[in-house]
Amino acid sequence: MTSARIAAVGSALPERLVTNDDLSQLVDTSDEWIRDRTGIRARRFAGEGETASTLASEAAARSLEAAGVAPSAVDLTIVATISGDQPMPSTAAFVQDRLGLTGGAVDVQAACAGFIYGTDLGAAQIGVGRAETVLVIGTEVLSRFLDFTDRTTCVLFGDGAGAAVLVPGEEPGLIGSILENDGRHARLLEIPSGGSRKPANVDEEGNRENVIRMKDGREVFKRAVVGMAEAATRLLEKSGLSSDDVTLMVPHQANGRIIRAVADRLRFPRERVFVDLEEVGNTSAASVPIALDHAWRRGLLKPGDVVLTAAFGAGLAWGANLIRWTAEAPS
Ligand code: ACO
Repeated sequence: MTSARIAAVGSALPERLVTNDDLSQLVDTSDEWIRDRTGIRARRFAGEGETASTLASEAAARSLEAAGVAPSAVDLTIVATISGDQPMPSTAAFVQDRLGLTGGAVDVQAACAGFIYGTDLGAAQIGVGRAETVLVIGTEVLSRFLDFTDRTTCVLFGDGAGAAVLVPGEEPGLIGSILENDGRHARLLEIPSGGSRKPANVDEEGNRENVIRMKDGREVFKRAVVGMAEAATRLLEKSGLSSDDVTLMVPHQANGRIIRAVADRLRFPRERVFVDLEEVGNTSAASVPIALDHAWRRGLLKPGDVVLTAAFGAGLAWGANLIRWTAEAPS
């Protein structure tokens, strides 16, 4: 097996900043409640003409440029998203066209854990010699799938994209992964329509069902803490490492309280846990690669560092990647 490593990462956020006060004009909520319960102060919402593929392309272009890799060298593009441009074709196809990429292109769907899945699948393709350069992207425009009458969900999410360029490496950059899903709880967090069960529609009152519905936020909260902590623990054990060996934990940015609870279970000091959700919100599949890019560009990740990522979301899907960082500081 050939090893795969991350050559560089990149991210893109829409310009439009939506504060908690902005949302309190739409639903019965407050800046204090949202900050206290989630840690989120603001999020970005896509503007006119911005879609999952345009944000993905911006993030991918930044990662390719930082890696010094030409678009024509990419032989597989994996896009993780639950808010793709349209049901068909894949969002990866639009990214490929926009950037002039070559080779295969496919979307993967594991909600907030999508980038964790995509990274492992991409590294496996390099591992078995079927690909040399894999672009893995997490991208979401969830603002178009929010019910702005439902205060329990619309305050949580934001838009954005993050990308990583995977290439063969002498040392394993991706040390290991855990991928999990428990389909018994598939309806706990869902977009009920827009697929073959119930095509997207708007009823006579203007109600639509192709929006995010969360049946029980507390239950999702508890399962997210247990799932991420358990996956991270198992991955460290499997890799023969302990949390002391990890330079930085970069968790899915859903909720500051979830992140703190996961860190406490892993006995991880807070200063070694990266958090950027205050200004970004929960960007689902884009959350981990955006956070990786922010941490890298702020000088928190250097070659040789060990990075632990973990994510949890609809599916219920969760997982973790353990990465030996190899990318030099961006110029
Ligand atoms: N503003 C003001 N009040 C609100 C809001 C809001 N936006 N949303 C809910 N409330 C009210 C509720 O109605 C409830 O009122 P009541 O006591 O009168 O019934 C009260 O606040 C407490 O509600 P809870 O749901 O118990 O609040 P909790 O402390 O659990 O926080 C939250 C809710 C933030 C949704 C939390 O459960 C959570 O983060 N869960 C994880 C959900 C998540 O992250 N989902 C995203 C996808 S999955 C993932 O990424 C991990």
